[in-house]
Amino acid sequence: MGEDAKRPQPEELERVGDDPLALILGRRSVGRVRPDAIPAAAVAELLEAAVAAPNHHLTEPWRFVVLGGDARRAVGEAHARAMARGRPELPKAGLAKEAARLERAPVVVACAVHPSAGDPVTRREDRDAVAAAVENLLLAAHARGLGAMWRTGAMADEPEVRAALGLEEGDEIVAFVYLGRPDDTPPAARSRGGLGDVVTWRGLGPP
Ligand SMILES: Cc1cc2nc3c(=O)[nH]c(=O)nc-3n(C[C@H](O)[C@H](O)[C@H](O)COP(=O)(O)O)c2cc1C
Repeated sequence: MGEDAKRPQPEELERVGDDPLALILGRRSVGRVRPDAIPAAAVAELLEAAVAAPNHHLTEPWRFVVLGGDARRAVGEAHARAMARGRPELPKAGLAKEAARLERAPVVVACAVHPSAGDPVTRREDRDAVAAAVENLLLAAHARGLGAMWRTGAMADEPEVRAALGLEEGDEIVAFVYLGRPDDTPPAARSRGGLGDVVTWRGLGPP
């Protein structure tokens, strides 16, 4: 039985389109992708989905930097240089690996928040909105048969990486979304516990 069939099917609610829930439940992080190029227009379509995310006060706090070709290495090298400065004992091979980090996929979209000035609540919600945009991006990629993976790691917090991306003072990197056509590696099994530990039902349910 597929996952879709196991889900409780709400009887009284209208079913719109081709069941986007199946799409959401079918998404997996895809870490290994083919090096084949992805057209810019395809990435733009995914980004249209990203910016359709909910956004309190319509601050449009997201910033995206699309990296393909040599641009991936330029950002990776900025990271490697910063690492070499901070930890001169690091072996050259390790630094070379850092420089090549973003070349694991043909396209990497750096997703950042440009937080609103002032109110700390708005600033927090700006980052929440960017996280929602990243999920939209992952789902849109899945809907178009692309593999996608949200990655962070040390690069995401490195000021020289932010500078190499052309981000502004105060911007934060929320995700590097790696995009590519999936290779033949079967996706990992779904890794969530059940709802029992994380949902409290009050006045409704459990089903
Ligand atoms: C904020 C955030 C940061 C993440 N950073 C990494 C990362 O640096 N490396 C990685 O392999 N996966 C990263 N992931 C992906 C998770 O590991 C992945 O979503 C998780 O294993 C569940 O798998 P699934 O996406 O297939 O459901 C990140 C996810 C989130 C939400």
